[in-house]
Amino acid sequence: MTPPPTPLLNHRVVVVVGKGGVGKSVISGGLAVAASRRGKRTVVAEMNGAETMAALFDAEPVGYAGGELAPLVHAMSIRPADAIEEYLLRMLRFRILYDVVFGNRFIGPFMNGVMGLSDLISMGKVMDLEWNRTDGSHSADGDAPHTWDLVVVDAPATGHGLSLLSSPQAMMDITRVGPLFNNARMIRDLLADRARASVLLVTLAEDMPVTETIELARKLEERVDVGVAGVIVNGVPPALFPTDAAAARWPELAARGREIGSLAAAAVQDAERLLRDRQRADGHIERLRSELGLPLLEVPLLNRRDLDAEGLATIGQHLEPWL
Ligand SMILES: Nc1ncnc2c1ncn2[C@@H]1O[C@H](COP(=O)(O)OP(=O)(O)OP(=O)(O)O)[C@@H](O)[C@H]1O
Ligand SMILES: [Mg+2]
Repeated sequence: MTPPPTPLLNHRVVVVVGKGGVGKSVISGGLAVAASRRGKRTVVAEMNGAETMAALFDAEPVGYAGGELAPLVHAMSIRPADAIEEYLLRMLRFRILYDVVFGNRFIGPFMNGVMGLSDLISMGKVMDLEWNRTDGSHSADGDAPHTWDLVVVDAPATGHGLSLLSSPQAMMDITRVGPLFNNARMIRDLLADRARASVLLVTLAEDMPVTETIELARKLEERVDVGVAGVIVNGVPPALFPTDAAAARWPELAARGREIGSLAAAAVQDAERLLRDRQRADGHIERLRSELGLPLLEVPLLNRRDLDAEGLATIGQHLEPWL
Protein backbone atom coordinates (compact mmCIF):
# COMPACT_ATOMS: atom_id res chain seq x y z
CA MET A 1 0.00 0.00 0.00
CA THR A 2 1.29 3.46 -0.86
CA PRO A 3 2.62 5.55 2.02
CA PRO A 4 1.32 9.11 2.69
CA PRO A 5 2.58 11.72 0.21
CA THR A 6 4.63 13.42 2.94
CA PRO A 7 6.69 11.28 5.35
CA LEU A 8 5.34 11.68 8.90
CA LEU A 9 8.63 13.00 10.24
CA ASN A 10 8.66 15.83 7.71
CA HIS A 11 5.74 17.40 9.56
CA ARG A 12 6.24 19.47 12.69
CA VAL A 13 2.93 18.45 14.27
CA VAL A 14 1.25 15.04 13.99
CA VAL A 15 -2.16 14.72 15.67
CA VAL A 16 -3.08 11.13 16.58
CA VAL A 17 -6.85 10.58 16.70
CA GLY A 18 -9.20 7.60 16.98
CA LYS A 19 -11.77 5.73 19.04
CA GLY A 20 -11.17 5.22 22.76
CA GLY A 21 -8.76 2.41 23.57
CA VAL A 22 -7.57 1.63 20.04
CA GLY A 23 -3.94 2.49 20.83
CA LYS A 24 -3.58 6.23 20.20
CA SER A 25 -1.15 6.58 23.09
CA VAL A 26 0.86 3.52 22.08
CA ILE A 27 1.13 4.76 18.49
CA SER A 28 2.02 8.28 19.71
CA GLY A 29 4.75 6.83 21.91
CA GLY A 30 5.98 4.55 19.12
CA LEU A 31 6.15 7.47 16.73
CA ALA A 32 8.07 9.54 19.29
CA VAL A 33 10.62 6.77 19.87
CA ALA A 34 11.05 6.23 16.12
CA ALA A 35 11.57 9.97 15.63
CA SER A 36 14.08 10.14 18.48
CA ARG A 37 16.06 7.28 16.94
CA ARG A 38 16.45 9.48 13.87
CA GLY A 39 17.82 12.26 16.05
CA LYS A 40 14.61 14.27 16.28
CA ARG A 41 13.80 16.03 19.53
CA THR A 42 10.22 14.99 20.09
CA VAL A 43 7.52 15.99 22.55
CA VAL A 44 4.29 14.07 23.03
CA ALA A 45 1.49 16.43 24.05
CA GLU A 46 -1.14 14.42 25.92
CA MET A 47 -4.40 16.26 25.63
CA ASN A 48 -7.09 16.84 28.22
CA GLY A 49 -4.78 16.14 31.13
CA ALA A 50 -4.11 12.50 30.22
CA GLU A 51 -0.94 10.97 31.72
CA THR A 52 -0.42 7.62 29.98
CA MET A 53 2.90 8.33 28.30
CA ALA A 54 4.99 8.31 31.47
CA ALA A 55 3.48 4.98 32.51
CA LEU A 56 4.36 3.44 29.13
CA PHE A 57 7.97 4.50 29.71
CA ASP A 58 7.80 3.30 33.30
CA ALA A 59 8.49 6.83 34.54
CA GLU A 60 6.89 9.20 37.05
CA PRO A 61 4.07 11.42 35.68
CA VAL A 62 5.46 14.59 34.07
CA GLY A 63 2.45 16.92 34.49
CA TYR A 64 1.92 20.20 32.69
CA ALA A 65 5.57 21.20 33.10
CA GLY A 66 6.58 18.16 31.07
CA GLY A 67 9.72 16.07 31.30
CA GLU A 68 12.05 13.68 29.55
CA LEU A 69 10.95 10.04 29.28
CA ALA A 70 13.78 8.73 27.09
CA PRO A 71 16.66 10.31 25.17
CA LEU A 72 15.13 12.99 22.89
CA VAL A 73 11.62 11.95 23.95
CA HIS A 74 9.67 14.34 26.15
CA ALA A 75 6.03 14.39 27.16
CA MET A 76 3.71 16.91 28.72
CA SER A 77 0.16 16.63 29.93
CA ILE A 78 -1.91 19.52 28.61
CA ARG A 79 -4.42 20.18 31.35
CA PRO A 80 -6.94 22.72 30.02
CA ALA A 81 -7.04 24.72 33.27
CA ASP A 82 -3.24 25.11 33.27
CA ALA A 83 -3.20 26.02 29.59
CA ILE A 84 -5.89 28.67 30.07
CA GLU A 85 -4.09 30.18 33.05
CA GLU A 86 -0.80 30.32 31.16
CA TYR A 87 -2.47 31.83 28.12
CA LEU A 88 -4.25 34.55 30.06
CA LEU A 89 -1.18 35.44 32.08
CA ARG A 90 0.81 35.89 28.90
CA MET A 91 -1.82 38.03 27.21
CA LEU A 92 -1.07 41.71 27.23
CA ARG A 93 -4.67 42.61 27.85
CA PHE A 94 -5.14 39.93 30.43
CA ARG A 95 -7.58 41.90 32.56
CA ILE A 96 -9.74 43.05 29.68
CA LEU A 97 -9.82 39.62 28.13
CA TYR A 98 -10.54 37.96 31.40
CA ASP A 99 -13.43 40.35 32.07
CA VAL A 100 -14.80 39.93 28.59
CA VAL A 101 -14.62 36.17 28.49
CA PHE A 102 -14.84 34.83 32.00
CA GLY A 103 -16.08 37.84 33.98
CA ASN A 104 -19.28 37.95 31.99
CA ARG A 105 -21.74 35.55 33.52
CA PHE A 106 -23.59 35.18 30.24
CA ILE A 107 -20.63 34.76 27.93
CA GLY A 108 -18.28 32.84 30.25
CA PRO A 109 -20.10 29.50 30.44
CA PHE A 110 -21.06 29.83 26.80
CA MET A 111 -17.47 30.23 25.64
CA ASN A 112 -16.17 27.47 27.83
CA GLY A 113 -18.91 24.95 27.29
CA VAL A 114 -20.40 25.47 23.90
CA MET A 115 -17.51 27.07 22.07
CA GLY A 116 -14.89 24.81 23.52
CA LEU A 117 -12.57 27.49 24.83
CA SER A 118 -10.54 24.84 26.69
CA ASP A 119 -10.10 22.96 23.42
CA LEU A 120 -8.95 26.10 21.65
CA ILE A 121 -6.48 27.09 24.35
CA SER A 122 -5.17 23.51 24.55
CA MET A 123 -4.54 23.60 20.80
CA GLY A 124 -2.93 27.01 21.36
CA LYS A 125 -0.50 25.28 23.70
CA VAL A 126 0.31 22.81 20.92
CA MET A 127 1.03 25.73 18.59
CA ASP A 128 3.18 27.24 21.29
CA LEU A 129 5.21 24.01 21.49
CA GLU A 130 5.66 24.15 17.72
CA TRP A 131 6.85 27.77 18.00
CA ASN A 132 9.21 27.18 20.97
CA ARG A 133 12.79 28.23 20.25
CA THR A 134 15.99 27.16 21.93
CA ASP A 135 16.62 30.79 23.00
CA GLY A 136 13.39 30.68 25.03
CA SER A 137 11.33 32.73 22.55
CA HIS A 138 8.04 31.62 21.00
CA SER A 139 7.13 32.72 17.53
CA ALA A 140 6.16 31.40 14.14
CA ASP A 141 9.23 32.88 12.44
CA GLY A 142 12.05 33.31 14.96
CA ASP A 143 15.77 32.94 14.24
CA ALA A 144 16.84 30.41 16.88
CA PRO A 145 16.34 26.70 16.11
CA HIS A 146 13.10 25.06 17.22
CA THR A 147 13.14 23.38 20.63
CA TRP A 148 11.12 20.47 19.18
CA ASP A 149 11.64 18.90 15.80
CA LEU A 150 8.34 17.07 16.17
CA VAL A 151 5.24 17.59 18.31
CA VAL A 152 3.07 14.46 18.57
CA VAL A 153 -0.43 15.24 19.83
CA ASP A 154 -2.05 12.29 21.62
CA ALA A 155 -5.66 13.44 21.17
CA PRO A 156 -8.67 12.39 23.23
CA ALA A 157 -11.10 9.81 21.81
CA THR A 158 -13.15 10.41 18.64
CA GLY A 159 -15.77 13.05 19.46
CA HIS A 160 -13.54 15.12 21.68
CA GLY A 161 -10.61 14.74 19.28
CA LEU A 162 -12.81 16.13 16.53
CA SER A 163 -13.95 19.09 18.63
CA LEU A 164 -10.33 19.79 19.55
CA LEU A 165 -9.38 20.01 15.88
CA SER A 166 -12.44 22.04 14.92
CA SER A 167 -12.16 24.46 17.89
CA PRO A 168 -10.12 27.10 15.98
CA GLN A 169 -12.69 27.44 13.20
CA ALA A 170 -15.56 27.34 15.72
CA MET A 171 -14.00 30.21 17.68
CA MET A 172 -13.36 32.21 14.51
CA ASP A 173 -16.98 31.80 13.48
CA ILE A 174 -18.27 33.15 16.76
CA THR A 175 -15.75 35.93 17.54
CA ARG A 176 -14.94 37.39 14.08
CA VAL A 177 -12.47 39.95 15.53
CA GLY A 178 -10.22 40.39 18.54
CA PRO A 179 -7.39 38.52 20.27
CA LEU A 180 -9.20 35.20 20.49
CA PHE A 181 -10.06 35.39 16.81
CA ASN A 182 -6.43 36.10 15.90
CA ASN A 183 -5.20 33.25 18.04
CA ALA A 184 -7.76 30.86 16.62
CA ARG A 185 -6.78 31.86 13.10
CA MET A 186 -3.10 31.15 13.72
CA ILE A 187 -3.94 27.69 15.07
CA ARG A 188 -6.28 27.04 12.15
CA ASP A 189 -3.52 28.08 9.74
CA LEU A 190 -1.04 25.75 11.42
CA LEU A 191 -3.44 22.79 11.07
CA ALA A 192 -4.30 23.75 7.50
CA ASP A 193 -0.64 23.86 6.47
CA ARG A 194 -0.16 20.46 4.79
CA ALA A 195 3.62 20.72 5.15
CA ARG A 196 3.58 21.49 8.87
CA ALA A 197 0.67 19.51 10.31
CA SER A 198 -0.99 16.18 9.72
CA VAL A 199 -3.57 13.91 11.31
CA LEU A 200 -2.97 10.21 11.84
CA LEU A 201 -6.06 8.05 12.36
CA VAL A 202 -5.69 4.96 14.54
CA THR A 203 -8.09 2.02 14.60
CA LEU A 204 -8.30 -1.66 15.39
CA ALA A 205 -9.29 -4.15 12.69
CA GLU A 206 -12.66 -4.66 14.36
CA ASP A 207 -16.23 -3.78 13.48
CA MET A 208 -17.01 -0.83 15.80
CA PRO A 209 -13.63 0.92 15.59
CA VAL A 210 -13.64 0.66 11.78
CA THR A 211 -17.17 2.10 11.56
CA GLU A 212 -16.17 4.94 13.89
CA THR A 213 -12.97 5.59 11.94
CA ILE A 214 -14.83 5.88 8.65
CA GLU A 215 -17.27 8.35 10.25
CA LEU A 216 -14.45 10.29 11.88
CA ALA A 217 -12.53 10.58 8.61
CA ARG A 218 -15.65 11.91 6.88
CA LYS A 219 -16.42 14.42 9.63
CA LEU A 220 -12.80 15.61 9.62
CA GLU A 221 -13.02 16.17 5.90
CA GLU A 222 -16.25 18.16 6.31
CA ARG A 223 -15.31 20.21 9.34
CA VAL A 224 -11.55 20.68 9.58
CA ASP A 225 -9.06 22.00 7.09
CA VAL A 226 -6.25 19.55 7.85
CA GLY A 227 -4.34 16.89 5.93
CA VAL A 228 -4.90 13.26 6.91
CA ALA A 229 -1.76 11.15 6.47
CA GLY A 230 -3.57 7.83 6.68
CA VAL A 231 -4.91 5.13 8.97
CA ILE A 232 -2.83 3.00 11.32
CA VAL A 233 -4.56 -0.35 11.79
CA ASN A 234 -3.26 -1.30 15.20
CA GLY A 235 -3.24 -4.63 17.00
CA VAL A 236 -3.56 -6.74 13.85
CA PRO A 237 -3.28 -10.48 14.64
CA PRO A 238 -0.19 -12.05 13.08
CA ALA A 239 -0.37 -13.89 9.78
CA LEU A 240 0.10 -17.61 10.41
CA PHE A 241 1.90 -18.43 7.17
CA PRO A 242 4.93 -16.61 5.81
CA THR A 243 4.07 -17.34 2.16
CA ASP A 244 1.08 -18.23 -0.03
CA ALA A 245 2.68 -21.62 -0.71
CA ALA A 246 2.78 -22.34 3.00
CA ALA A 247 -0.87 -21.32 3.31
CA ALA A 248 -1.78 -23.61 0.40
CA ARG A 249 -0.24 -26.59 2.21
CA TRP A 250 -2.29 -25.95 5.33
CA PRO A 251 -5.57 -27.81 4.56
CA GLU A 252 -3.76 -31.07 3.95
CA LEU A 253 -1.54 -30.56 6.97
CA ALA A 254 -4.58 -29.81 9.13
CA ALA A 255 -6.41 -32.92 7.91
CA ARG A 256 -3.43 -35.13 8.77
CA GLY A 257 -2.99 -33.42 12.11
CA ARG A 258 -6.58 -34.26 13.06
CA GLU A 259 -5.92 -37.93 12.28
CA ILE A 260 -2.78 -38.22 14.39
CA GLY A 261 -4.44 -37.86 17.76
CA SER A 262 -6.10 -35.48 20.20
CA LEU A 263 -2.99 -33.39 20.94
CA ALA A 264 -2.31 -32.63 17.27
CA ALA A 265 -6.02 -32.08 16.69
CA ALA A 266 -6.07 -29.47 19.48
CA ALA A 267 -3.08 -27.71 17.92
CA VAL A 268 -4.87 -27.67 14.57
CA GLN A 269 -7.93 -26.18 16.25
CA ASP A 270 -5.81 -23.41 17.85
CA ALA A 271 -4.20 -22.64 14.50
CA GLU A 272 -7.58 -22.47 12.80
CA ARG A 273 -8.83 -20.03 15.39
CA LEU A 274 -5.82 -17.79 14.68
CA LEU A 275 -6.52 -18.12 10.97
CA ARG A 276 -10.12 -17.03 11.45
CA ASP A 277 -9.02 -14.04 13.60
CA ARG A 278 -6.70 -12.97 10.84
CA GLN A 279 -9.34 -13.44 8.16
CA ARG A 280 -11.82 -11.36 10.12
CA ALA A 281 -9.20 -8.61 10.54
CA ASP A 282 -8.45 -8.74 6.82
CA GLY A 283 -12.17 -8.25 6.12
CA HIS A 284 -12.25 -5.10 8.28
CA ILE A 285 -9.06 -3.80 6.68
CA GLU A 286 -10.60 -4.36 3.27
CA ARG A 287 -13.63 -2.34 4.31
CA LEU A 288 -11.39 0.55 5.42
CA ARG A 289 -9.52 0.35 2.14
CA SER A 290 -12.65 0.45 0.01
CA GLU A 291 -14.54 3.12 1.97
CA LEU A 292 -11.67 5.52 2.62
CA GLY A 293 -9.21 6.43 -0.08
CA LEU A 294 -6.44 6.73 2.53
CA PRO A 295 -3.08 5.02 2.96
CA LEU A 296 -3.24 2.16 5.48
CA LEU A 297 -0.47 0.75 7.63
CA GLU A 298 -0.74 -2.35 9.82
CA VAL A 299 0.85 -2.55 13.25
CA PRO A 300 0.77 -6.03 14.81
CA LEU A 301 -0.64 -7.09 18.13
CA LEU A 302 2.26 -7.36 20.56
CA ASN A 303 2.34 -9.21 23.80
CA ARG A 304 0.83 -6.69 26.22
CA ARG A 305 3.46 -7.41 28.86
CA ASP A 306 6.05 -6.14 26.39
CA LEU A 307 4.52 -2.72 25.93
CA ASP A 308 7.28 -0.73 27.62
CA ALA A 309 9.87 1.61 26.09
CA GLU A 310 11.31 -1.31 24.10
CA GLY A 311 7.84 -2.33 22.96
CA LEU A 312 7.25 1.22 21.76
CA ALA A 313 10.48 0.98 19.79
CA THR A 314 9.06 -2.15 18.15
CA ILE A 315 5.84 -0.26 17.37
CA GLY A 316 8.02 2.52 15.96
CA GLN A 317 9.79 0.05 13.69
CA HIS A 318 6.44 -0.91 12.19
CA LEU A 319 5.81 2.77 11.46
CA GLU A 320 9.10 2.99 9.49
CA PRO A 321 7.50 2.82 6.01
CA TRP A 322 5.69 6.06 6.78
CA LEU A 323 8.58 7.94 8.39
N1 LIG B 1 -0.13 -3.12 19.12
C1 LIG B 1 -0.52 -3.44 20.36
N2 LIG B 1 -0.24 -4.67 20.86
C2 LIG B 1 -0.64 -5.01 22.10
N3 LIG B 1 -1.28 -4.21 22.94
C3 LIG B 1 -1.58 -2.96 22.52
C4 LIG B 1 -1.20 -2.51 21.21
N4 LIG B 1 -1.64 -1.23 21.07
C5 LIG B 1 -2.24 -0.91 22.23
N5 LIG B 1 -2.21 -1.92 23.10
C6 LIG B 1 -2.78 -1.94 24.47
O1 LIG B 1 -4.14 -1.57 24.36
C7 LIG B 1 -4.52 -0.72 25.42
C8 LIG B 1 -5.02 0.61 24.86
O2 LIG B 1 -3.94 1.30 24.24
P1 LIG B 1 -3.79 2.89 24.39
O3 LIG B 1 -3.81 3.29 25.81
O4 LIG B 1 -2.64 3.30 23.58
O5 LIG B 1 -5.16 3.32 23.69
P2 LIG B 1 -5.74 4.80 23.56
O6 LIG B 1 -6.40 4.87 22.25
O7 LIG B 1 -4.69 5.78 23.85
O8 LIG B 1 -6.82 4.78 24.73
P3 LIG B 1 -7.60 6.05 25.33
O9 LIG B 1 -8.67 6.39 24.34
O10 LIG B 1 -8.13 5.52 26.63
O11 LIG B 1 -6.58 7.15 25.51
C9 LIG B 1 -3.31 -0.57 26.30
O12 LIG B 1 -3.39 -1.50 27.33
C10 LIG B 1 -2.16 -0.89 25.39
O13 LIG B 1 -1.07 -1.39 26.09
MG1 LIG C 1 -4.58 7.29 25.31
